[in-house]
This record gives sequence, C-alpha cells and structure tokens, in this order.
Amino acid sequence: MATIADVKRFKSTVNTASPEYQANYKEWQLLLNTLRDRLKEATSQGQMRHLETHIKRGQLLARDRIELLLDEDSPFLEICPLAGWGQKDMTLGGSIVAGIGLVCGVETMVIASVPTLSGGSSNEVSVVRGERISQILMENRLPAIQLLQTGGANLSQQFRVFHRGGIATIHSTILSPFSIGSRTYGNLSSPHRNSSKAGIPTCSVVFGSSTAGGAYSPGMSDYVIMVKNKAQVFLGGPPLVQMATGEISDAESLGGADMHSRKSGVSDQLALDEFDAIRKAREWMSHLNWKKHGPVPPRHLTPSIEEPIYNRDELLGIVSANIRLPFDATEVVIRIVDGSRFMPFKPLYGANLVCGWAHVHGWFYFILFYLVFFDVFIEYTSVIYYYRETFDAGIPVGILANNNVLFTQEANKATQFIQLCNLKNTPLLFFHNITGFMVGKRYEEEGIVKAGARFINAVANSQVPAITIIMGASYGAGNYAMSGRAYNPRFLFSWPNSKCSVMGPDQLTGVMDLITRQAAERTGQVIDENAAAARNEKFRLVVEKESDVYYTTSRCLDDGVIDPRDTRDVVGMCLSVVYNREVKGGNLYGISRILGSVYKAGVMSNCYGRHGQLNGWRSFASGRQVGHCIQSDSIDP
Ligand code: COA
Repeated sequence: MATIADVKRFKSTVNTASPEYQANYKEWQLLLNTLRDRLKEATSQGQMRHLETHIKRGQLLARDRIELLLDEDSPFLEICPLAGWGQKDMTLGGSIVAGIGLVCGVETMVIASVPTLSGGSSNEVSVVRGERISQILMENRLPAIQLLQTGGANLSQQFRVFHRGGIATIHSTILSPFSIGSRTYGNLSSPHRNSSKAGIPTCSVVFGSSTAGGAYSPGMSDYVIMVKNKAQVFLGGPPLVQMATGEISDAESLGGADMHSRKSGVSDQLALDEFDAIRKAREWMSHLNWKKHGPVPPRHLTPSIEEPIYNRDELLGIVSANIRLPFDATEVVIRIVDGSRFMPFKPLYGANLVCGWAHVHGWFYFILFYLVFFDVFIEYTSVIYYYRETFDAGIPVGILANNNVLFTQEANKATQFIQLCNLKNTPLLFFHNITGFMVGKRYEEEGIVKAGARFINAVANSQVPAITIIMGASYGAGNYAMSGRAYNPRFLFSWPNSKCSVMGPDQLTGVMDLITRQAAERTGQVIDENAAAARNEKFRLVVEKESDVYYTTSRCLDDGVIDPRDTRDVVGMCLSVVYNREVKGGNLYGISRILGSVYKAGVMSNCYGRHGQLNGWRSFASGRQVGHCIQSDSIDP
C-alpha cells in the first residue's frame, strides 16, 4: 500500500554560511524581540493595585484559572492575544484571555474575563475579538468553557459595545449563537437560533460579580457553576435596584451563588471555592463524551510525529525580514511538514506558486514502527491490517505557497490544485508572500483577469477548511486568491515581518499621485510640488502604518502573530481542531484544467452556475446567456 513514507524527502539547497542567510538571521532577532515584548505585555493582567485587591479577596487571576482548567502540559493556542494593541482607550486583549486548549483531552475554547482589567468589563476590542472567537468555535465545533467575573459592558464605551454585542457584551456574544434553546432568555434573531442547532456545548463558571450583560452569559450557557460566597449574578446590582424600584437588598441575597443554586435555578452546581469550581468544570467536560468527526489516533496508541529533517530555526535565515527580498517558498515548506516529505504538484508549470501535498503532525511514524514490530513477531494478522488503516488516517494537507508574483499559469495551476484537494477532502494551507497578479498589456491579452478570477472563485467555493499563514507581503487580489481574511480561512496567522494592504505603500502613493496630477492637468491647475511631496509622504506613512502586522492584528484581522519557528506546531494544532467537524470538499465542479471555468455561484458578481458545458451558461446574477468568459465585462449584451 502506498503511504506517506513513499513520498520522498525534499533536498534543501540552503547555504547556512552565506552572507544573505546570516544577515536575514540577524535581522529576525529584532523582529522577534519586539514580538516577545508585545506578547509579554499582553499577559499583563492590570495595575498592581487591582491585582493586590483581587488576590487579597482570595481569588485566582484569570491566567491561573485557565492553567488549572487545562490538562497538564496542554498547549494553549491564544486567539488574537494582541487585539487592541496600540489602540486608544482599549485594554490589550480586550479584558479577556481566550484560546484553544485541552480539557480532559477535548479541544476546548476557553474564554476567561480578566477581572483585574477594568473590572473585566468589555470594550470595543472585546466585542471584535469575541466575534472572532465565536466564529472559530462554531466553525470548528469546539465546546466552550467561560471563566466569568465581569462588570458587563464598559460603560464609557457603551455606544461602541452595546450595538455590536446585540443582547449583551462579549461573553453573551460568544455564547448566544448556540446556547439559546437550553434556557429561555432574550429575544434572539434567527441566525442565533439556527446556530443553536449545531449543539455545541457551553459551560460557564462564575467566580465573582457578573453584572448585566455578564449575567446573561451564565444565563444562556448549557451548564453553570457558581462559587459560593463569591459569584454574584444579577441584571442590576443593589444600587441600581434601589434607584429603579426603591427595593433595598444586599448583593448576596440579590444574586449570590447560594440563592441561584437553591431558588432561581440559574446555577447548576454550587462550588465550595475556585478550585472546586474548576474541578466541576472538568467533570462536566468528562461527561460530555465529546467525539471529533475527523480521524484521531486510536486511544491506546500515543501518537508520535515525524519532525522535519531540517531545523525550523533555519527559517530565520531563509526568509528575509525585508519583504522586498525574495526567497524560495519550498525551503520554508520543507521545514514545516512532517519528515520534510513534500509531493509537489506541477513543479515545472507556474513555478511562482508552489503547490503540493504533505502531512503536518501526522502520526504515521509510530504506526510504522508498530508495523515493523508486528511484522517480525506476529507476522501477517488482522492486527497488522488494522494498523495499516490507521496509518492512512494521518492529517494530509494541500499546500499553496508563493514564490513570486502570480501569472496566468500560476492561477491555472492553483485552481486545479484546489479542485483536487476538494475532491480528496484535503484541507488547504496557504503561505502568503504575494504582491499580487502580474499587470501589463501582454498579461491582459493573455487573459490574466480570467485566470485570476478562476483562482479566486475556486478559493471562494472551496469547501475544505483552509489555514492561512502570512509570511511576508500580502497585497491586493493576491491576498484574496491566497485565502486572505475576506475569504474566511478557518485560521489565519501572521509572521512578524508581514504587511497586508491593497498594495504596497510606495505603489499606492505613486498611483494616488498620478491620479491627482492627471485630474489637476484636466482642470488646468498648477501643481505645487512641495505640497504634493508632503501630501504623498503623509499618505505613504498612513498606508505603511495600516499595513503593519501589529496594526492588523490589533483589529483581529488575523488570529495572532507567531514566531515563524512555531508555525509547524500552530498549523498542526489548527489541523487537528478543524477535524472536529467532518472535512468534506465540495464536488462543485470537474477538474477545470486550463480552459474550463465551471463554478457554482459564489461570492463574486462574476460567478456563474455550473452546467457542465463551456457554452451556454446562464448568469445567476443577470440571467443572461454568457459564453466562455466568466468576466461580467465581457458579456455580449
Ligand atoms: N465599565 C467601565 N469601567 C468599569 C466597569 C464598567 N462596567 N466596571 C468596573 N470598571 C472599572 C472601575 O471604574 C475601576 O476603574 P479604575 O481602574 O479607574 O479604578 C476598575 O474597573 C475596577 O473596578 P472596581 O469597582 O474598583 O473593582 P471591583 O472588583 O471592586 O468591582 C465590579 C468590580 C465589576 C463588581 C464593579 O466595578 C461594578 O459593579 N461595576 C459596574 C457594573 C455594571 O453596572 N455594569 C453594567 C453593564 S451594562
């Protein structure tokens, strides 16, 4: 039987002694120091006076609660840890810590409010980050555990929070899509009710005061644990109640854990203290009997993973910190995939886009070891056959990585490759280093618009999960074609050197300058060269700032900035996470090769329905009969 072991190891040609390699490596140290400092800043949980008060009350800090909840040695993949970075009036991370870790062996989305940052209240960044977290756990079918202690909406940002959060704040945003139905709160819109059908389990552990919007979070969870004498859950605290109705009550009798466990029924378990509450949350998880829908190694085997044969540290010498300097994407790929085994697709055609298949964090090597063992001692039994089957259930991935600008051939190749991966139910992994599609008369005549549109359509219609890594430039339609944020990859991470915008700051400024000059010429205006230069420079700086990776990550346009050397582990974990749902490609079209353009209606106005023939398609958008070309401009009226 053919296996991944038959795929040959790719041979690296990198010279680690070369001056380029050494210079790159040195430059990366600065970038990584900055990343390290910023991530460290993101782990800060507030001012010392708030930390002291919190600890004096006998409470655990948010990150300690997470650590206790997760399995020993569990990884914790934080999602958008630098959300809010550099933004005025925002807490770094949005007063929450959120990520994916293992609870009783189950991949779980854990979301903890940070009560020592603005009382754990949710600001605008919390909402944006919460929306992304909510999307990730829904798409990947991840059970969620919330560790709550929150002052609800940040009142100084009520306008920016209230309207985005719908019924409540961040925590409710996370839970509302799927937990409604188990309880009877709120007047939620149909998307929420539809999501609830996904049946993703949620648990809230309330450690302290959870007011107003924060109260709806436990209210809408499947299961609620409250800490005795600490948790307080109410729509309005004692002062607000007194103001509204004149009723005088203390916080404990109004919304204490004991009251909710005995009278209101909002709480399902009364925990003696924080440790007991976390233990109860783990107990809840262990009773879920949660199963992934994708392949998992048999429980009695501890999977072992074949590392790349090349050191991942070498990524820092191969990739330039300066995105203008090219590098060979294959050299990156073979430092990320298992055993540096990579099976390229069409290596001689459209070489500016590397495509091919590999495994990341597959577990076959262990099983291969067992095969040898059984072959020797038991010879050919049914046990061997069983292991052979498991062998094939590793996690394959189809990789697309940019070497340089995209031409028609690259677009054709990518379209076919994406179709093949859909037919074989193989997730996609994109590595961006792309300034866009080639422009110019010759390329327009060649039909690069048509080829590019096919590529983008294939990405838009692809139904297998995609994971995207931005490892350099990510500009314009190149970003879209390579499954940038707008094309909804399941996960998207950036390297600290990366830049992302409609085009590079210099090009964008140059284009704007030309347009402005042409407009001035048409109206007979005289151009003030000094003013133009100042305007251009100002504009260039704005674009440069907006394309910077910390600017985009701050706005949750990626799921985090990662050290290139961690890429393999991050991708491996994401691949494992996507397999919580069944991975199934869409059989939307046959293999289109170079001329075929057969697509299901998609997100773009120039997507047409599949009828299987090249002639006589009917545009879904216009209902007009169209010919071979999928560009709407070329429809013959
Ligand atoms: N919006 C904005 N800031 C808030 C806030 C909120 N909802 N809740 C707390 N904060 C701020 C406080 O002003 C304080 O700011 P400071 O750093 O300048 O001192 C800081 O967070 C800590 O609050 P504090 O009251 O000292 O902490 P605490 O642990 O004793 O109490 C709460 C925390 C959440 C119980 C309490 O602050 C509270 O009741 N907040 C109001 C909750 C509310 O009514 N929310 C309505 C949401 S719709």
